[in-house]
Amino acid sequence: MAPYTGSDCAYLCLSVPLRPALNPACPLPSGLRRPSLLIVGCGDIGLRVLALLRPRWRLLALSSSPQRWPMLRAAGAVPLPGDLDDPGSLWRIAGLADAVLHLAPPAGAGQVDLRTAHLLQALACSRRCRRIVYASTSGVYGDAAGAWVDETRPPAPATDRARRRLDAEAQLRGFGRRRGVAVTILRVPGIYALDRQGGDPRQRLLRGTSVLRAQDDVYTNHIHADDLARACAAALLHGRPQRVLHVSDDSQLRMGDYFDQVAKIFDLAPPPRISRAEAAQQLSPMALSFLSESRRLLNRRMKRELRLRLRFPTVDQGLGAAPQMPSA
Ligand SMILES: NC(=O)c1ccc[n+]([C@@H]2O[C@H](COP(=O)([O-])OP(=O)(O)OC[C@H]3O[C@@H](n4cnc5c(N)ncnc54)[C@H](OP(=O)(O)O)[C@@H]3O)[C@@H](O)[C@H]2O)c1
Repeated sequence: MAPYTGSDCAYLCLSVPLRPALNPACPLPSGLRRPSLLIVGCGDIGLRVLALLRPRWRLLALSSSPQRWPMLRAAGAVPLPGDLDDPGSLWRIAGLADAVLHLAPPAGAGQVDLRTAHLLQALACSRRCRRIVYASTSGVYGDAAGAWVDETRPPAPATDRARRRLDAEAQLRGFGRRRGVAVTILRVPGIYALDRQGGDPRQRLLRGTSVLRAQDDVYTNHIHADDLARACAAALLHGRPQRVLHVSDDSQLRMGDYFDQVAKIFDLAPPPRISRAEAAQQLSPMALSFLSESRRLLNRRMKRELRLRLRFPTVDQGLGAAPQMPSA
């Protein structure tokens, strides 16, 4: 079968048998409804997914921000008011969608993800939803000392932020097993794109934030926001039940080298290099936690099972660097 390229998603076969209305490979007799997808947490990635799926799916977006509803409507989704922190506001969502794409982050404290608990409680009121795709983070592995990491590596979260994600994954997989719902977990590293708020690496360079000197530096992993959206769309079609997948590009970069490369592409000053001891004094606890974890994600499952061909296999490509001339 041809690799997934984003626009062809509606015509590919599903790997999990779903009822005909949810299987875009089955031609729908005219007059039959399109399958419905509920996006929970329809921010930057959700909006990119909307643009990919709009023609073939009926799209609903749970949103806790009334000021965003006109924009969600204009992007092709029916906004559903609801706040994952307020379970009483979620009664509408049961039975509305055949599939759910869960992109909402956990709240900012604790070791459990109550938002996911509230979502599942609401979804449990109906049997309609047959598939859930969840965007988790690769932070669940903790530090791997620069090793290659595949999806069989046992998670070892080092922060409560990562523990909440692991809790969300466990809740979702348990829900899937108990109720026969196909749950696919995407473990996602740093999301970047020049048109993504907070995801443009030039901003960090312009702030002059330091990176670690080479001997102390850590491996980081990246995915372009558009490729993540395409992976979400592919997982809705091909994601295997109760399966974990990395959604990461093919770059192998230490953090300092990544920012050096960004500086080179955009003709900016490279970031100052500091020792780990200096970083401990200068950087916030959150920034420091990212400098304490080093791993290189393998993405074979993503390519094989989702049949995803990355549009931006390297950050150079994602940032629009001129292609290198092959050496003579
Ligand atoms: N930044 C990274 O590098 C990175 C790495 C790995 C994973 N991730 C995760 O990937 C996911 C998708 O990323 P993204 O950039 O699309 O996130 P985003 O732009 O922040 O969107 C998340 C959306 O969640 C919704 N939300 C937040 N709290 C809510 C609540 N209490 N009830 C209902 N909805 C709520 C918000 O929509 P409304 O305001 O409309 O409710 C928000 O737009 C997120 O979970 C993110 O944490 C990010």
